[in-house]
Amino acid sequence: MNRFYGFDLGDAESAVSRLEKKDQNVPEVLAVNGEKSFVTAYASLRNGELIIGEKACYNAGAMKRRLRFKSRFLTDPSSLADLKSFAAGVLGELYASGDLIKDDDCCFYIGCPAGWNMSARERYRELFEKTGYPPVRIISESRAALVSACQSKHLQIGVDILSKPVLVVDIGSSTTDFAYIMSGKEVEMQTAGEVMLGGGLMDEMLLEESVDASPDAAKLRKVFAESEPWRSYCEFAARRLKEKYFSDEDYWKENDCEQTVLIRYDEPLRLTLRMDEVMANRLINKRIDKLRGRSFHDVFEKSLMEVRDNITSKQPELLFLTGGVSKLEAVRDWCQAVFPDAVVITGSEPEFSVSRGLAWSGRIDDEGACRIAGF
Ligand SMILES: Nc1ncnc2c1ncn2[C@@H]1O[C@H](COP(=O)(O)OP(=O)(O)OP(=O)(O)O)[C@@H](O)[C@H]1O
Ligand SMILES: [Mg+2]
Repeated sequence: MNRFYGFDLGDAESAVSRLEKKDQNVPEVLAVNGEKSFVTAYASLRNGELIIGEKACYNAGAMKRRLRFKSRFLTDPSSLADLKSFAAGVLGELYASGDLIKDDDCCFYIGCPAGWNMSARERYRELFEKTGYPPVRIISESRAALVSACQSKHLQIGVDILSKPVLVVDIGSSTTDFAYIMSGKEVEMQTAGEVMLGGGLMDEMLLEESVDASPDAAKLRKVFAESEPWRSYCEFAARRLKEKYFSDEDYWKENDCEQTVLIRYDEPLRLTLRMDEVMANRLINKRIDKLRGRSFHDVFEKSLMEVRDNITSKQPELLFLTGGVSKLEAVRDWCQAVFPDAVVITGSEPEFSVSRGLAWSGRIDDEGACRIAGF
């Protein structure tokens, strides 16, 4: 095998990394469509062209626009077509840029949530195979994030990761995954392997609250009910604004963090999105119907307690936090409160660690196979 690709297809963001067989460096994150971390979205234009990434989110002329479809893979058969379209778009971009060469002796390691069982993983693998990918293996994103941390020379935590029980907590856009890893191997969890909790809920809430506060609330609701492309356009704008605020909370507490979106449907409408301390607090602590009357914080804390109570062997000595929402400062404190004796660390560059870890896993498995075969 000449090279190993790691494809982190997230519900919100995706990334592809490549590692050469003999390369001593970290896997290279490839720019797809000019972006190293690109939005998991595709759009079909009037002329039949398929575009992916951020361009697909903002193209106002899109006939069809789809975002956040991976989270529906286990429950909604229509997500299969969306995943195939997006996967085909990524493959096309990799060939077009020359980052992937036809008939190269390579393989793709693609991540999935830790909670997916073997049959879901196999169906997922077939999807890529049918789309024309080189040989594909599916492994858990949590394990890949930990492999990345183990390979990182910068991570100095004073705990030997591979000899201690570790709990990986991956808080993404639609799910939070918990993976209990002992001696470097993932142990299947009885419950709470995957919880439907992620940053996407905050985007929906910010959008909803902004619509409620608008003088055009009724008109906006009508547009969103009729036009999925416009609704997802605005939800995406809400997501970016939320990320901007949380990446520097102290600064934005003193400064205006807002954006006005222009919607051209029956008539032009303006929608103002605004993040401030009060809204940030609501996104975390407001009780919402989607969480059956509980808040983001409530559900996260309860899931973590459930995981703790369900661990029958040794409690984790290390909690490794990854995924976009792990950048929220409060998350670390919530984890420390439930696991007071554990070391809690947040992985660096969560947007790339899974794809790098996947590429690394490819090479580790290949080296293992070579050893067994006596090479
Ligand atoms: N600084 C930040 N503060 C809070 N949330 C953030 C920040 N940066 C990114 N996010 C959120 O993290 C989420 C994306 O995380 P990530 O890329 O790990 O998810 P994903 O892998 O695409 O989704 P999933 O794991 O559910 O499939 C989005 O909801 C995004 O808005
Ligand atoms: Mg993820």
